[in-house]
Amino acid sequence: MHLDDVYEVDTKGVMLLAGHDVRELIGEYGSPLIVMLEERIRANCRAYLKQIECYPRTRVYYASKAFLTTGMCRLMQAEGLGLDVASAGELQTALAAGFPAADILMHGNAKTTTELELALGSGVGRVVIDNLEEIDRLSEIAAGLGTRARVMIRVTPGVKPSTHRYVQTGQRDSKFGFNLDGGSADKAVGRVLSSPPLELVGLHCHIGSQIFSGKPFAIAARAMMEFYARVKKEMGAPLDELDMGGGLGIRYSPDDFPPSVKEHIDNLCSSVLDASRDFGVDPPVLCDEPGRSIVGRAGVTLYVVQSTKRILGIRNYASVDGGMTDNPRYALYGARHQVLAADRLSEPADELWSISGRCCESGDMLVHDVRLPDLRAGNIIALMCTGAYTYSMASNYNRVARPAVVLAAPGRCALLARRETPDDLLRLDNMPGWLDDEKGPA
Ligand SMILES: Cc1ncc(COP(=O)(O)O)c(C=O)c1O
Repeated sequence: MHLDDVYEVDTKGVMLLAGHDVRELIGEYGSPLIVMLEERIRANCRAYLKQIECYPRTRVYYASKAFLTTGMCRLMQAEGLGLDVASAGELQTALAAGFPAADILMHGNAKTTTELELALGSGVGRVVIDNLEEIDRLSEIAAGLGTRARVMIRVTPGVKPSTHRYVQTGQRDSKFGFNLDGGSADKAVGRVLSSPPLELVGLHCHIGSQIFSGKPFAIAARAMMEFYARVKKEMGAPLDELDMGGGLGIRYSPDDFPPSVKEHIDNLCSSVLDASRDFGVDPPVLCDEPGRSIVGRAGVTLYVVQSTKRILGIRNYASVDGGMTDNPRYALYGARHQVLAADRLSEPADELWSISGRCCESGDMLVHDVRLPDLRAGNIIALMCTGAYTYSMASNYNRVARPAVVLAAPGRCALLARRETPDDLLRLDNMPGWLDDEKGPA
């Protein structure tokens, strides 16, 4: 079993997560439940920090969009990572957790004035500029606050990695950043350099997510360094940082063979060092923004089967108490997770099952056609490697409450986020006064 490094099995065939029996976890916290494995998250952070030491000056920002709660911010702070945020909500979460603003980097292709004011007002370390309008807006806000904003420019290096098209971001036809081709990145640099309230400290790119090949990273790093050197030498910009974004893929299925963190970082470092030498500049501070590879394999979602339906000669469905509302990845990208019958792991997996979500939508599936035992209501289903882009993408479709999330380590387990309640689901509603009086036909 390729994911057996994530869980253990007791003598009765029940899954243990960080030593905790999944039946007891559900008994205590309810279902569905997202279990985040603390030791694994910490080990992934350390793998990045250790590896990146091989390069002279580095910084690792955790891409908080992958999974964020105040507890997660604290964990990242404790492990010595910075934080990449892409909205006021992510920024406010980090600030509420007491995360040092100077170690936060702010992204976004449609940052509002309010978000930029919040970013500068709270003292975030870097704002990554994505478009021309933002340069003027940010400049005005910084001037108004009497401060100088430290900025990076997001460049689209024209690299198209082999991954789902929804998570490709470095190709020319992208909504993000300034294209290298056609001079728009040059124009952005010129505009920032002529805006005294902005201090250009670096360049940024992010070519996509769930990428297995080192080649597009190497190509992007070289293209970025060529531009970096030109900006420094010909435009006189005092640049010192290159942020290569995130994107390292993880192993969701036995057919996935992503590079290790070490291989990925070695590739980035050597590409940047080679290019620094070739283009005649000192190596910049190399920044990385991993998300999925920090938390993806550290999460397991537990569900309870509510009903089964066998359609002879066609398919067996097992419907669980969650689905696309807590994990839209299959519905959105066709992304597959390994699925296990977590309370029946020692029984033969000799039937084909499709696991369906609870929403009124045929597309609300978690997986099609996986081998599991003869499922029945009450069985526990575990969806593996759900730590990234599940809870952070969760919705309330059908007014389904978002699940609880726990942080589990040997000998301890506590909520990172409690389950939503009916009150939470109603908290935004407002009854227009004239409807309040209308009670319908008597
Ligand atoms: C700008 C930026 N940085 C970092 C990341 C994290 O990528 P990943 O989770 O693939 O490491 C993303 C994700 O889309 C991103 O948009």
